[in-house]
Amino acid sequence: MHSTFTTAATIGLACLSAVSAAPWGRTPPPSWYIAHPSPSTGPEEPFKFPLQNGFPNVTNPSSTLNVIEAQAHGTLPNAPPPPAINSANTFTSLRLIAFNEITEVAFFTELIDNITSNVPGYEINDSEGGRDFILETLTAVQAQEELHALFANEVLALFNAGPIQPCEYEFAVDTFESAIALASTFTDVVLGTLGDVVGDFGADGDTDLIRGVASVIAQEGEQNGLYRALQDKVPSALPFLTASTREFAFSALNQNFVVAGTCPNINTIDLPIFGALTVVTPPTTPTNQQVKFSFQSNGTSTSGLSLVYINQQNLPIVEPLTDISTEDGVVTFTAEFPGATNLMNGLTIAAVATGSNFTSADEVASATLFGPGLIEIN
Ligand SMILES: *[C@@H]1O[C@H](CO)[C@@H](O)[C@H](O)[C@H]1NC(C)=O
Ligand SMILES: *[C@@H]1O[C@H](CO)[C@@H](O)[C@H](O)[C@H]1NC(C)=O
Ligand SMILES: *[C@@H]1O[C@H](CO)[C@@H](O)[C@H](O)[C@H]1NC(C)=O
Ligand SMILES: *[C@@H]1O[C@H](CO)[C@@H](O)[C@H](O)[C@H]1NC(C)=O
Ligand SMILES: *[C@@H]1O[C@H](CO)[C@@H](O)[C@H](O)[C@H]1NC(C)=O
Repeated sequence: MHSTFTTAATIGLACLSAVSAAPWGRTPPPSWYIAHPSPSTGPEEPFKFPLQNGFPNVTNPSSTLNVIEAQAHGTLPNAPPPPAINSANTFTSLRLIAFNEITEVAFFTELIDNITSNVPGYEINDSEGGRDFILETLTAVQAQEELHALFANEVLALFNAGPIQPCEYEFAVDTFESAIALASTFTDVVLGTLGDVVGDFGADGDTDLIRGVASVIAQEGEQNGLYRALQDKVPSALPFLTASTREFAFSALNQNFVVAGTCPNINTIDLPIFGALTVVTPPTTPTNQQVKFSFQSNGTSTSGLSLVYINQQNLPIVEPLTDISTEDGVVTFTAEFPGATNLMNGLTIAAVATGSNFTSADEVASATLFGPGLIEIN
């Protein structure tokens, strides 16, 4: 319907500027709307699976899968699966991918529901077709995420490695703008993390999986171009996107979205969940500035700890913790954010880690106690 990206961005901005206007009544879902919201979801209740189509269990592939594929504008890969998986570490990556993609399905299903039913904060002015365009896009994205999850879970099932089952989820947003900003941030984390995953596939000799996952990296990048344009940001954030690791992604999903104790087989995912790190005064411009952080103390001494930033594909930036204070079990400190010196646009991952000399995101993750703190600039 809107064939140029310029049009899409303009429409997105036009409808965003109208979102804050007063509600103007309910409109019926557009006729192409064939998403399948979870029947058990109330607005304030945690999101629960299965979807109406049975996802994440697709019991009748010939009909249900065809509907998902039509909605996704494409199919699951039909090439033969790899004859063998060399490394247990590869199963960890596939489980993380499924865990993440199922969370994304929950998010986009709930977001579509909120927009479709004009939940306050999600009312989009359709005078220029923006609401239809956004719903059409999110409906494709929801189905595409379903296929990403099914892909990972099917490989796990094929090798009797236990497909990942869904948890219950809560997303701490209540407006369209905050939901899109959140989608952009978690998509940035996924983009960086899948780089870690394909690196591991290569190192472990499971190279047959690299192309499929690399295609998903690009796919998520296309999505993020729109989420960024909707926030009036240049669609392509950086020349080289920020590296992340599986540990940071797994920690962020659990710290921010998953209702603790609701995941049937999360114990099969061999990754740590770090303590949470709060960015108390998130920087909004790439200037050199002092930033305040906090974490829940558990008696860990702060001596020997550093605040480490990961941005783009650069060496991790290490800063000392200053102005440390502890009150009611919460440790608060300040660290320099050298935004101008290092042109720190896009996603920055902050972590409190042991040591002060790191040459890669992997080394930071190995030494992290608290993180990731997620900072988005421009
Ligand atoms: C999916 O199927 C498995 C195996 O039958 C079952 O244990 C699980 O509860 C189902 N999940 C959902 C969300 O229905
Ligand atoms: C949907 O709206 C409800 C009610 O405001 C909110 O609690 C929930 O976080 C929203 N979900 C998304 C994905 O925006
Ligand atoms: C919707 O947007 C159009 C064009 O920008 C504007 O004229 C109209 O007043 C808006 N409607 C509401 C209810 O905000
Ligand atoms: C405190 O929490 C960190 C991060 O979760 C953990 O690595 C560390 O072992 C904990 N220390 C104590 C004393 O419990
Ligand atoms: C930092 O680590 C690298 C690689 O482990 C090492 O070569 C280098 O000497 C270390 N630098 C400092 C200042 O400790």
